[in-house]
Amino acid sequence: MRAKLLSSVCFMGLVLSPSIWGMEMSMMQDDERTSLGIKGTMQGEHQLSNMREHLSAISDIVRLMNTNKYDEASKIATEKLGLTLEKNSMCGSFKNQSFEQVGVSFHKAGDNLAQTLKTKDHAKSMVALEKVLNGCVMCHSTFKQ
Ligand code: HEC
Repeated sequence: MRAKLLSSVCFMGLVLSPSIWGMEMSMMQDDERTSLGIKGTMQGEHQLSNMREHLSAISDIVRLMNTNKYDEASKIATEKLGLTLEKNSMCGSFKNQSFEQVGVSFHKAGDNLAQTLKTKDHAKSMVALEKVLNGCVMCHSTFKQ
């Protein structure tokens, strides 16, 4: 009885697994995000390391907000997420105008967050942070390396 149950479970596994593979394949084929054509390049590596910095900036900002260190949080938002000259030219270096626009408006949201954090108003800062995070999500759903 037990062996029978086991073999039928195995059988189901066999039947199901190709369809799971098929699902994964079709999800991959459905990735219609615009490619920047930089996968595996030096520029691509640089972008990913920048991205990891963005993520740790968000984490630092939330931690500092939670410990009432709004000025420090604001400084990180300016330096790591705001529109500096370097970031402006970085966003433009991918030769894709709509990527540049999304990137620049994301960094402007970063500057807006920095300004809002200076008010030390938690609720307003959360709204400003939400706008920044929407920028991350928006770009990731539109572009890939
Ligand atoms: C203007 C576009 C854009 C914005 C804005 C953006 N990213 Fe990215 N990010 C990308 C692209 C493109 C990739 C590569 C994704 C791919 O090829 O699938 C990426 C990859 C990443 C990765 C993967 C890094 C790795 O080492 O693999 C992380 C983490 C990340 N982004 C975090 C963030 C966070 C957090 C934000 C917002 C604070 C953000 N990004 C905003 C474009 C953007």
